[in-house]
Amino acid sequence: MPSATAIAHPNIALVKYWGKRSIPLNLPAVGSVSLTLGGYRTQTAVCWGTERDLVFLDNEPLLGGPAKRVLDFLDLVDPGRPQCEVRSDNNFPSGAGLASSASAFAALALAASAAAGKTLDPTALSIVARQGSGSACRSLWGGFVEWRPGERDDGSDSHGIPLAAADHWDLAMVVAVVHDGPKPTGSTQGMERSRLTSPFFHQWVQTSDADIAEAREAIAIRDLPRLGRVMEASTFKMHATMHTSSPPLLYWHPGTVALLHEVAAARASGIEAWSTMDAGPQVKVLCASADADAVAERLREHALRVDVLRPGGPARLVDA
Ligand code: PMV
Repeated sequence: MPSATAIAHPNIALVKYWGKRSIPLNLPAVGSVSLTLGGYRTQTAVCWGTERDLVFLDNEPLLGGPAKRVLDFLDLVDPGRPQCEVRSDNNFPSGAGLASSASAFAALALAASAAAGKTLDPTALSIVARQGSGSACRSLWGGFVEWRPGERDDGSDSHGIPLAAADHWDLAMVVAVVHDGPKPTGSTQGMERSRLTSPFFHQWVQTSDADIAEAREAIAIRDLPRLGRVMEASTFKMHATMHTSSPPLLYWHPGTVALLHEVAAARASGIEAWSTMDAGPQVKVLCASADADAVAERLREHALRVDVLRPGGPARLVDA
C-alpha cells in the first residue's frame, strides 16, 4: 500500500495573523511573518488504501469533528481518494497554543500528497496546507517566512514565501507554558468574533502592512531590538482586538501576565528579550541564542514548563 511519512515544525508568528477574508479557504485579512522552530515537531504517516479511514493523534484514535477535519483535508489533497490511515505524533502539547495545527497540516499535506503519488513544490503544498490551518502554510519552509494575504478569490496567491533560512540568524524562542489544557475559543471562531465586533479590528488590518515591512527589514539586517519591538507591538494589537471583541476573548492566565512582567524586567536589566503570544496563555520569548538559558532561568518560576527552541528547517519526507 502506498505510504509516506513527513516531519514538519511549528512556526510562531512574529507579525500576527488574526482575521479571515474567507473562512472556507482560510484566506487571511492580513499578512504575517513567522519563525519556524526546531525542537518541536509533528511526524505524520499516511497509508493510502486501508480498509477504512482511521486517524490517530499521539496513538489515540481521533473521532468526530477533529477526525473529519483531517479526512476532509485528505479529500482536498486527492478527491476520490481511497480509504486511508493517518498517524500523527507530536513531541510537544497539542492544541495548547503552541502552533500544533501548523506543523500538523504542513506534515499532513506533504505526507498525503506523497502517498497519493503527487510531487508538489513547497508553494503548492503551502496552498494546500493553508486550507487545513492558515498558519500551516508557513511551516513548509524553515527559518523566516512571510504569508502574503493574496488578492484572488480562489486563494492561489495566498501562500508562504521564504524570507531567510534557519541559519540566517542565531536566535532562540523560549517557550513558557503556563497552562496545558485546550483553548477556550478556537482561532477561527475567535477571529470571526473579532472581525465582526471589535472596534479595533479595522485599525488592526490597516497597520499590519507597516508591521510586516518593519519585520522584513529587521530580519534582513538582523536587528533584534527592531524585530522584538514590532513583534511585541503586533502581539499586543492582536490581543487588544481579542479583548475588545464581544464577548471578550481573554486567553491570558495570571501566569501569562507574570511572564510578561518578567520579560520586561529582564529587558530592563540589559537582556534583549521580547514577548509574543498566540490564541492561548503561553508566552514565547524571542532573544539571542546566547541569552536563551538566562531568559529560560528567569521564566521558570512562573511556568509549568520552559523549552528553549531554535530556528528549525523545512517540512520534509522521512523514511517511516
Ligand atoms: O492558523 P490558525 O487558525 O491556528 O491561526 C493562528 C493564529 C495565531 O496563532 C494567533 C497567529 C498566527 O499568525 O499564527
